[in-house]
Amino acid sequence: MKLKGLLLAGGTGSRLRPLTYTGAKQLIPIANRPILHYAVEAMVQAGITEIGVIIGDSGPAIRQSLGPGDTFGCHFTYIAQDAPLGLAHAVKTARDFLAEDPFLMFLGDNLLRSGLKPLVDRFVSGGYAASILLTRVADPRQFGVAVVEKGRVTRLVEKPAEPPSPFALVGAYCFQPAIHTVIANLKPSWRGEYEITDAIQALIDTEHVVDATFVEGWWKDTGRPEDVIEANRLILEDLIPVQHGTWDEASEVVGRVSIGDNARIEHSSLRGPVVVGADAHIRNSYIGPYTTIGDGVWIEDTEIENSVVLPDSQIRRVAERIDQSLIGRGVRVQGQMQRPKAMRLVLGDHSRVDL
Ligand code: DAU
Repeated sequence: MKLKGLLLAGGTGSRLRPLTYTGAKQLIPIANRPILHYAVEAMVQAGITEIGVIIGDSGPAIRQSLGPGDTFGCHFTYIAQDAPLGLAHAVKTARDFLAEDPFLMFLGDNLLRSGLKPLVDRFVSGGYAASILLTRVADPRQFGVAVVEKGRVTRLVEKPAEPPSPFALVGAYCFQPAIHTVIANLKPSWRGEYEITDAIQALIDTEHVVDATFVEGWWKDTGRPEDVIEANRLILEDLIPVQHGTWDEASEVVGRVSIGDNARIEHSSLRGPVVVGADAHIRNSYIGPYTTIGDGVWIEDTEIENSVVLPDSQIRRVAERIDQSLIGRGVRVQGQMQRPKAMRLVLGDHSRVDL
């Protein structure tokens, strides 16, 4: 059985504003690679090469980032969704592409360390109407939640106020074409979306067998800024360093540190795991563990750790250490040398500054 793939790269990304005003949330880089590229790689590794990509307003940027598919060893069909009306609506939008084939749907903002192969293998060998992935989470209220009895899913609820179990639905699902019949009869949820969680419940209600496996290794939904910082930490745990850029004699580079083409490090201390992008320039600074510095970023007289800085930003003379921060593209953060010392802020809508 050969599965098609459906990769979701639409939606609004409202919880990641202001970064998502100017770009798709699935293109936010983790260790200097867009989150979406990790998702494609996981699908291809699971043997899926015919992939439909759901796109919304940020469609042009997604197309530009992914291309036709040959660099990943697959073929993409881009499918425009008029409005982000829910995950089941995305499946409905892809109806012609999916035809009568079984498929794997993966959310383009999800990262899974153990990949998708275990889920696909189990679905293919089990003859189920659907196979889903679950993991135990501290606060299930922000996810779809499943109740499992004897290895079978018996009930699902989307974002319940009172979760019936601690097991969240991970954003990876395998389906037989029976899912299209239940989606055709689906009503919108309280939040106005056509929920895939409700569609799976409808499969159960019509006597279909829904199988669940628990995720091995970590899983991250990168919906919020703190999730992006945490995802960066998890990816950097496995960093295999590559060094193209250079550092001078007055600099100290310790641990696993990747330095991109033409990057320059002067009189600075880098303590891995750290990724520094191409053409970045770091002077008189400290870059601490679990930090990604994007391409073309300038950092001077500053200490930073556990953070992600997107391309082409400049950070200079910041008096206190920057920690647990997500800094967008082309941002300028600059400390003042002269008096009177005062703060001058030009912040976009929905920016967040903790002083
Ligand atoms: O991450 C796991 C969770 O994903 C599950 O536990 C939930 O059951 C599931 O509903 C989903 O919840 P989210 O609220 O996190 O979904 P979100 O709106 O963030 O959308 C997930 C991805 O799908 C994201 O990359 C955007 C894309 N998307 C979303 C919608 C609603 C689309 O392409 N089209 C859409 O209509």
